[in-house]
Amino acid sequence: PSLEKEFLPMYFGWFLSKRSSEILRKAGQAFLDELGSLKAFKKESKYFPSVEDPKIKIDLTSYFVKRPPGVLHCTTKYTEFGKAAGAEEYAQQEAVKAAYGKGFTLSISALFITTKTVGARIELNEQQLLLWPGDADKILPADNLPRGSRAHITLGCANGVEAVQTGLDLLEFVKLEKAGNKGEQVGEIGGGKLLYFDNGMWMLVLAKKIDVRAIFSGYYG
Ligand code: 2AM
Repeated sequence: PSLEKEFLPMYFGWFLSKRSSEILRKAGQAFLDELGSLKAFKKESKYFPSVEDPKIKIDLTSYFVKRPPGVLHCTTKYTEFGKAAGAEEYAQQEAVKAAYGKGFTLSISALFITTKTVGARIELNEQQLLLWPGDADKILPADNLPRGSRAHITLGCANGVEAVQTGLDLLEFVKLEKAGNKGEQVGEIGGGKLLYFDNGMWMLVLAKKIDVRAIFSGYYG
């Protein structure tokens, strides 16, 4: 029998509930607000050109002007409607088929910004890692980073930056960590410990992880 080729989504991922999306958006907003008025951050303001007077406050909300509409998500595999490398193989995995449409709780361990993106870092558990593609955790082909290193939720992008950048930015942090750079501990701010990695790379390690509810599914555009 000739079956029609399965129509693959633009990407597979975890789609947060409306409520969890709101909670995470608020946490991200609070982080940007607090960071923008922090003395240590203003000292490094050259990385975030702003229309406002940087001595008063850096308005990071208007800097990260491109924000995902609707519910937030964590991309697992970008399949590009089947065109991406490894798309079919990914979609055919038993773990992927079994998880499709099922509910998960994702654990957010940190929030981060670079000059290009703002995002939330996710710590995937063993079961969730089964849905993580083997080729995602690389910037360069030679990179060898722990599985799931790239897992994130894009909260915003600077003007002219595409969302795919957020995961690459998170991988930059992980590469620095792997090289032994733990970042400069700037202090405690609301929510946790603030680290500075230079070049406009800041990470807030949450004192209390944020659990978000999400459905594993596909996005067809
Ligand atoms: P994101 O996961 O960092 O947010 C639609 O463009 C979604 O797919 C976005 O959420 C985007 O980034 C993600 N995306 C786009 N291109 C991608 C790629 N080449 N690899 C992985 N994810 C990609």
